Amino acid sequence: MRRLTFEDRGEEFDEEEDEVSVEETFTIDCRLEEAFAIDECSLELSIAKATNEYELARKKIATFINASESSEIVFTRNATEAINLVAYSWGLSNLNPEDEVMLTIAEHHSAIVPWQVVAQKTGAILKYVSLTGDEAPDTAKLREMLSRKTKIVVIHHVSNMLASVLPIREIVGWAHDVGAKVLVDACQSVPHMVVDVQSLNADFLVASSHKMCGPTGIGFLYGKSELLFAMPPFLGGGEMISDVYLDHSTYAEPPSRFEAGTPAIGEAIGLGAAIDYLSEIGMQKIHDYEVELSNYLYESLLSVPNIRIYGPKPSQTVSRAALCSFNIEDIHPTDIATFLDQQVCLSKRKWSPAVVV
Ligand SMILES: Cc1ncc(COP(=O)(O)O)c(C=O)c1O
Repeated sequence: MRRLTFEDRGEEFDEEEDEVSVEETFTIDCRLEEAFAIDECSLELSIAKATNEYELARKKIATFINASESSEIVFTRNATEAINLVAYSWGLSNLNPEDEVMLTIAEHHSAIVPWQVVAQKTGAILKYVSLTGDEAPDTAKLREMLSRKTKIVVIHHVSNMLASVLPIREIVGWAHDVGAKVLVDACQSVPHMVVDVQSLNADFLVASSHKMCGPTGIGFLYGKSELLFAMPPFLGGGEMISDVYLDHSTYAEPPSRFEAGTPAIGEAIGLGAAIDYLSEIGMQKIHDYEVELSNYLYESLLSVPNIRIYGPKPSQTVSRAALCSFNIEDIHPTDIATFLDQQVCLSKRKWSPAVVV
């Protein structure tokens, strides 16, 4: 049994409810129905329940990535919006002409474009780290390129294209040594392995619900408390205000400061349910199984004639992520995608130059 407690208008209500068993009833719909069910007592009670569930989802994310406080988790529409939030809010107030933003050429464009826009506005310079001969981002080069001019490193944890897994903890250490912040694009790591923001010591980290078995339309930004507190709002209006006057407004504390307008309540609750599901299985178990699958996939693809697989070989990284980008000579990627789609149920990107399985 779970006890919901909420205090409103000075009164205190307690209500007991049947606990939702993740194993038996894992569906997002079920959690949404539960959260939005119009209570016999009142609509207000239902709204309070939805708010409770929304905040519970925030706590679940915080626990899942080991953030020290749930207020370090900001709900966004997706990872792209979370990166834009940091670029616009932190970037516009911290970057000056000639400051450097360090990225790798293997970043997802969602991590590149916001910084291009902010670099154009601030005069900051984007510096790109290339790949090694083994087709992994060159972390030794990254270390060499860091300097006091570097203000932020924007880097993926796991590459959605190369399947390489980067040593984020070390990279964060190098970046902090020159006074730079680090934003980790963890879209491909959070759903597949244990991610511990305190151990990584990342300043910012983003992920997306739809890659975590959760609904679309929701993602999150993790930011260290002191950084979020120092940042101005990204978007204005709604719950992000404290007081509004005709000529100016004061802003709520994080995370509300960054959650303008009516939030995606249902989607956030759905993400919470997805986290219950992943946690129930166990992230280490998921990761170990995926490493096995990934090696099997890589080795099996090697037997296909005229295939070109991108990214480092499994033996050359700590562990290759469970995806493969490949091309087959003289066959258009769209044709391969269509063919595979008809044969087996695979997740793939038909619009990529190579097929990603
Ligand atoms: C590594 C990486 N970063 C960012 C994104 C963008 O995520 P979203 O579409 O949820 O904003 C993706 C999506 O494919 C991704 O794989």
